[in-house]
Parts: sequence; structure tokens; C-alpha cells
Amino acid sequence: MRHLTPNPLPVLGMIKGIKGVKDILPEETPRWRLIEETARQWAVRYGFQELRVPIFEVTTLFARSIGASTDIVEKEMYTFQDRDGTSLTLRPEGTAGTVRAFIEHNRAADPLPQKYFYMGPMFRHERPQAGRLRQFHQFGIESLGTSDPRADVEVIALLWRILSDLNLPALTLEINNLGYTADRESYRPLLVAYLTRDMERLCGNCQRRVETNPLRVLDCKVPECRAATEAAPRLADSLSEKARGYFAAVVAGLDSIGIPYRLNHRLVRGLDYYCLTTFEVTSTSLGAQNAVGAGGRYDGLIETLGGPPTPAVGFALGLERMVMMLSETAPVSLPGSTTVYIAGFGSQGSATGLSALEELRLAGIRSVSDFRAGTLKSHLRQADRSGSRFTLIIGDDEVAKGTGILRDMTTKAQRDVSLTSLSRDISSLLRAS
Ligand code: HAM
Repeated sequence: MRHLTPNPLPVLGMIKGIKGVKDILPEETPRWRLIEETARQWAVRYGFQELRVPIFEVTTLFARSIGASTDIVEKEMYTFQDRDGTSLTLRPEGTAGTVRAFIEHNRAADPLPQKYFYMGPMFRHERPQAGRLRQFHQFGIESLGTSDPRADVEVIALLWRILSDLNLPALTLEINNLGYTADRESYRPLLVAYLTRDMERLCGNCQRRVETNPLRVLDCKVPECRAATEAAPRLADSLSEKARGYFAAVVAGLDSIGIPYRLNHRLVRGLDYYCLTTFEVTSTSLGAQNAVGAGGRYDGLIETLGGPPTPAVGFALGLERMVMMLSETAPVSLPGSTTVYIAGFGSQGSATGLSALEELRLAGIRSVSDFRAGTLKSHLRQADRSGSRFTLIIGDDEVAKGTGILRDMTTKAQRDVSLTSLSRDISSLLRAS
């Protein structure tokens, strides 16, 4: 006779998850849900609609939008070849895909502005550490079609409201004016001339950036680079009147609705599509990776990607970092803790217990049972472990009488409940308790 085993596969070593890619366990998901739902509610209140775009796209989309000489595109993308040789990339952020979808579905022909929000996993091959992962999650919003400074104010206000509603600690909003392309072009040679005078003072990365992306040197976190750029010419001094006027209106708008901010002339951001307003929210309660969320205006991106000229502004929040901060402030109670445990045992009781479980669930009552338990004693132990408010005891005697015993697990008080009107009786009892 052939020997049947439940597991016909050979037993090999344990397979582990990928470095920097985390499981989110059931103890943690209530925090995630709180954050996701809070963000979603605020976004809807501000007139944003949910958009879902794929997690992988053709590589050129990211190279062209984020910028070929950014850290993300140069060294952090998860890129692979499709079977036909096309180069594909797991999305490192959500703006590029949103813009690609906007263009591809000819949304510009519909009334503007269009305001989208999205959330989901993003992928960057960075060195993992607290708050920095290779698969992480963002909640992002993009407001397409408005070049009015009030759109920037609206976007920043939404970011601030989400974080404040969650009571996240020690937040600072920093904001900067990157001006128009022409402003940065006139500033660039001034900065490069300054930086090349004393190249040895810069870190290796920044020495390279002087050629490829000199503005990024300004927000390098290495202390030597910060000291070296302390006296550098400032972009603010090269800005056109128009760019200054735009930014003044953004700042006045933030003042008028009471959003606190700090000007930071070094805030350049690691993605090349920005112009005019850029911003970032940091928290001192996080470690080295202290940016909770960030964004800015990107008026040229849609045209660069082949769409009609469309101004736009948006941000993305890092959900892992928000979860880390939430744990510190308010421990979230697990919602929907178990309400009724069904202890069905004996030949009749087990079967009636199974139907009772189904009946209560259909009536919307959270109900559980442990099918391994064969006796009342072991059922009660499992009921305790599950943290249930009530246990419904159904043995063969109860089936014969047509009444189960409902036990309050805190007071230990017991009462009979009719098995024929179970869900109605238990529902009204739960409502009253
Ligand atoms: P970003 O600054 O690259 O901007 O990312 C936004 C946020 O995502 C960061 O502030 C951080 O909280 C989180 N984040 C980034 N990388 C990681 C990582 N490796 N691990 C954990 N969290 C991370 C963008 O992505 C832009 N698309 C934002 C935007 C939208 N700008 C305009 N619209």
C-alpha cells in the first residue's frame, strides 16, 4: 500500500524574507489601518480621488521623470528585463506612474484640476536601517492642473492635517523655493564655481554631484559638506521676481490658515522634477531617517513625459515612519476584539456549535471557536486566551434542552439563551451591555 504523508515535498532549510522587506504582522495592522484611513478621509475631504497604478512600469518612465543623475535612478532602482527584453522597474515612488496614467488616459481633456491620492508599496535598493526599507509604503497625493499658489497651500495643509490628526510628535515643516528652470540655470554656475574652489572638503558623493547635480550638495547630510556649503551663494539671491512673488503667496497662504513652517534654503530634494515650492516634514522623534513626508511643485513633468503642459503639485508620506511614531504616542487598541467564543462539544453540541458560529457571524457578531478543543474545560481555556467577552456553551445537554449557556467571561455570570433565537437574543444582549 502507498504511504500517504500530508507533506509530499522534501523538507529543506527555512526560506527567509528579503533584507529590508518586512512583514506587517497582525499586531501591527491596526496602526497601519488607522494611518491609512486617516489619510484617506482627509484626502477625500480635500477633494482628492483614489487612483491605483501598477507597481511596475517601463524603466524609462522613472529615468526620465526622477532624473538620470539622481541617487534613486543611478543606484536604487529594482530593474529587470521582461521576457521580450524590455527593461522594467519596480516603482520607487508614485508621481511618475500617476503622471503616466494621466497622460495615457487623456485625462487632460477632462475638466481640470484633477486631484488624485494613492497608497501602496514602493521599492528602493537603499541600505536598510530603522525607517529605511527596500520595500516601503507611501500615501501620496497629486494635484494636477493648477498653477495657483493656493494649490500648493492646499496640498501642504492636507499633509499637515493628516499628521496633526494622528498626533504625531515633534513635527517640523520646512519649505523652500527652487524657482523656475531658468533661475536654477543662472544659479548653477555660481554654485559650481564656489564648490570647485574647495572640492576636497566635500564627501566623495558630493564631489561627483558637483558635475552631475550640484544643487544636491546643498542638502547633503555629511557635516563636512554642510560646513563647506555654509558660505555658498544662495539660490534665493538668483530667483526671478516671478518666482519670489509665487513663493511669497504660498507662504502668505500658509500663514493665513495657521500652518507653521520654517524656511530652509538647503531643501533641494532628491528628485529632479521639482520647481518653485518644495517642502518636507521631519520629526525629531525619528532617528537618522527623519523625513516623514515630502513633496513639491513639478510644473514641467507632464510635458517632459509627452503630455500637454500641465502644472502640478503633490507629496508623499512614508507610512513605516508614521507607524514608528504612532507607536510612541498612542498605543492603538485592537479594533473588534473577540466578542463571542462558541464552546461546542459532544456529538450533538459540536454540530450545533458550528451552526451557531455561522448564525452569529451572519448577524454581524464577531465569533470564534477552537475546533481542537473537545471538552468544556479546554474550550474555556481557549475562550480566555482569545479575550472573548462571552462564551456560549453548547454541549449535548444544551442541545437536548434547546438552550445554550452564555457566560460573561469577566463577571463569570451565566444565563440561558434559546438556541432557536440565538442571534436575536445575543445581539440585543450585546447592545445592552
Ligand atoms: P520622497 O521624498 O522620495 O518623495 O519620498 C517621500 C517619503 O517616503 C519620504 O519622506 C519618506 O518618509 C518615505 N521614504 C522614502 N524612501 C523610503 C525608504 N527607503 N524607506 C522608508 N520610507 C521611505 C517622493 O517619493 C515623491 N514622489 C513625493 C511627491 C509626490 N512629490 C510630488 N508628488
